[in-house]
Amino acid sequence: MSLPGPTVQVPTTGVTPASHGARAHLFTAGTVEDYRRVLAEGIGRVATRMAEVDRPFTGVTPDELVPRVAGIDLDRPLGDSGAALDELHDVYLRDAVYFHHPRYLAHLNCPVVIPALLGEAVLTAVNSSLDTWDQSAGGTLIERRLIDWTADRIGLGPAADGIFTSGGTQSNLQAMLLAREETCANLVGRTTERQSRPELLSRLRIITSAAGHFSVQKAAKLLGLGADAVVTVPTDADRRMRTADLAREIARCREEGLTVMAVVATAGTTDFGTIDPLPQIADICAAAGVWLHVDAAYGCGLLVSPTRRHLLDGIERADSVTVDYHKSFFQPVSSSALLVRDRRVLRHATWHADYLNPARMVEQRIPNQVDKSIQTTRRFDALKLWLTLRIMGPDAIGELFDEVVDRAAAAWQLLSGDPRFEVVTRSQLSTVVFRYLPAAAGREVVDDANLYAREALAASGAGLVAGTKVDGAHYLKLTLLNPETTMDDIAHVLDLLAEHAGWYAQTRAAAELSCPVG
Ligand SMILES: Cc1ncc(COP(=O)(O)O)c(C=O)c1O
Repeated sequence: MSLPGPTVQVPTTGVTPASHGARAHLFTAGTVEDYRRVLAEGIGRVATRMAEVDRPFTGVTPDELVPRVAGIDLDRPLGDSGAALDELHDVYLRDAVYFHHPRYLAHLNCPVVIPALLGEAVLTAVNSSLDTWDQSAGGTLIERRLIDWTADRIGLGPAADGIFTSGGTQSNLQAMLLAREETCANLVGRTTERQSRPELLSRLRIITSAAGHFSVQKAAKLLGLGADAVVTVPTDADRRMRTADLAREIARCREEGLTVMAVVATAGTTDFGTIDPLPQIADICAAAGVWLHVDAAYGCGLLVSPTRRHLLDGIERADSVTVDYHKSFFQPVSSSALLVRDRRVLRHATWHADYLNPARMVEQRIPNQVDKSIQTTRRFDALKLWLTLRIMGPDAIGELFDEVVDRAAAAWQLLSGDPRFEVVTRSQLSTVVFRYLPAAAGREVVDDANLYAREALAASGAGLVAGTKVDGAHYLKLTLLNPETTMDDIAHVLDLLAEHAGWYAQTRAAAELSCPVG
């Protein structure tokens, strides 16, 4: 991209010595030694804390932490990084929730790989912004290569493209934005009837399963669709979308004069780790001419799995796909992407601003990622995945993910043979949903005992599990994303849960005996 013109001598700027006062804190050519020292100090504190953590959580309560944070006078700086790190220990590092601990079994948070942490350190220091070429240069090309690599892994074809986003919620939002705009453009092209934009939007529907992620509902709300825009179809016994119901819903919408703007299939439901029947759903969408979005925020780890890639068969037929590298690629938050089959649809996120990305830059083939994104200033999150692939390679990531999927299968076996518990749907990924069943207890006591057990476990800090509702009842959930979690860890946490829940049920039964209701 070199331009013709006179050769200009660029004067070299001398390295100025670190100034005093505020400027001494700027990261510049003159302060690299401070940068090394301060960052090493920070890394040292984190490393010490990581090594000494013996529980995923200290059990600290908001009441204990609020005064500590509130008591800090933000207008009186400490002036010294060591003192600030000491203070940070008190308000954050000591009581943080540590996902790397093998008994953190709660939400979709993974331990992170060191190559990605190296990427994080580099990207924040250089601080490229990936909106325009003139703010990122090579960063733009690295992001583009990773988008192409991911689209290839999915099998989206030669016209595919995409963009890194802040997370699955944003990826899903952008997917629904593109689907909405494509649908509206088609509708306007097809009908002679003049409908106002609000009328058009109020008749749009998105269909997903009852186990789909709530970000779909949120996207519908943000996109100005009607309150009942998201239609959820039931799931089968394996908690996968019932395709017969999907076909019926599409037909019903048509009969009622509504337009289905997208079907959102989930490849890795948040609660059950199940994958909707993608080939059948793709057939239905193709026959109906409906946009298919696959939310693979969780299941995307299968893209690199040496043994389970086939579980995503059918994903290659999607119009758009969400992947969250910060869930199953062991990347630090944030790291996500939206991929699309046809790069042209990304134009719905384009706006040309004279000061930033004027339209003439498109003709000049200047690669400005902002033309594809709903963000402007944007982190170079892609660098973390880049260094992960360059240092570890995709198979290594896939092996880590396979390990947690194997562990979840073993945990399901363990629970299904344990009379203290009831376990539901066997996950295709790495969740296990179950509950403690105290002997001869009514539904309300069972619910309360499980709620109590989760809270008591968290308060002790000995382990963290999640909770959810299944058919209206409270259940507990393990989300396994840490290959370091052993079956002993899982068995230990189950014993603790059973103890807490059993104690609760007994105490309640005793209280009801001594003070019968009515
Ligand atoms: C299936 C699914 N989609 C989307 C999301 C939202 O992702 P994020 O939290 O990165 O916004 C989640 C989060 O758990 C999820 O499980």
